[in-house]
Amino acid sequence: MPTSREATVERVRSWIDKAVLGSGRAKKRGRDAVIPLLQAAQAEFGYVPRETIDGIARALRLPSAIVQGIATFYAQFRFSPPGRHTVTVCRGTACHVRGSGKLLDELSALLKVKPQETTADGTFTMETVACFGSCALAPVMVVDGKVYGRQTPTTAFRTLQRVRKEDKGSAAKSGRGRASSGRRSAAAGVARRARTGRGGAR
Ligand code: FES
Repeated sequence: MPTSREATVERVRSWIDKAVLGSGRAKKRGRDAVIPLLQAAQAEFGYVPRETIDGIARALRLPSAIVQGIATFYAQFRFSPPGRHTVTVCRGTACHVRGSGKLLDELSALLKVKPQETTADGTFTMETVACFGSCALAPVMVVDGKVYGRQTPTTAFRTLQRVRKEDKGSAAKSGRGRASSGRRSAAAGVARRARTGRGGAR
């Protein structure tokens, strides 16, 4: 069975063949084609895998370093798989004036990630935005689309702890669900064997 790394490499290879070379997207060769292809890769995979950069470079006949340089220049691209939850801190003027810089620094330190990165346990991806349009609530943090206004590092971290706890709760519930369905099917098996007279120890 392929490892998840091998599976990603295979997916990227077939995406490059079909969506880049096969579709003629790479016809317009050169640097102008890089950003649309990186955006397409991110839409496909949720991030830009390293192999995509090499594949796009080959398709456009550019050095990988050029594609890599363009990809890392723009904040819109992320290079690791997104976490289960997205935490976005606003860095707009109103939020900045009310302390979003400190909020972002402290959350980054607590979660041990920088913007565009994902926590080691895959729970949170940290992002920033220029303005959410909720300036009256500054400083603003958004988790999975839900806006939390007038945040401090303490309130924000509490929110994230709650999200983490809910995650664990639902994981435990689905584990219990699996266990009880396993028990149900074992019981059904015993009943079936009893009906057919084929039960007993082996
Ligand atoms: S500046 Fe943060 S919501 Fe507008």
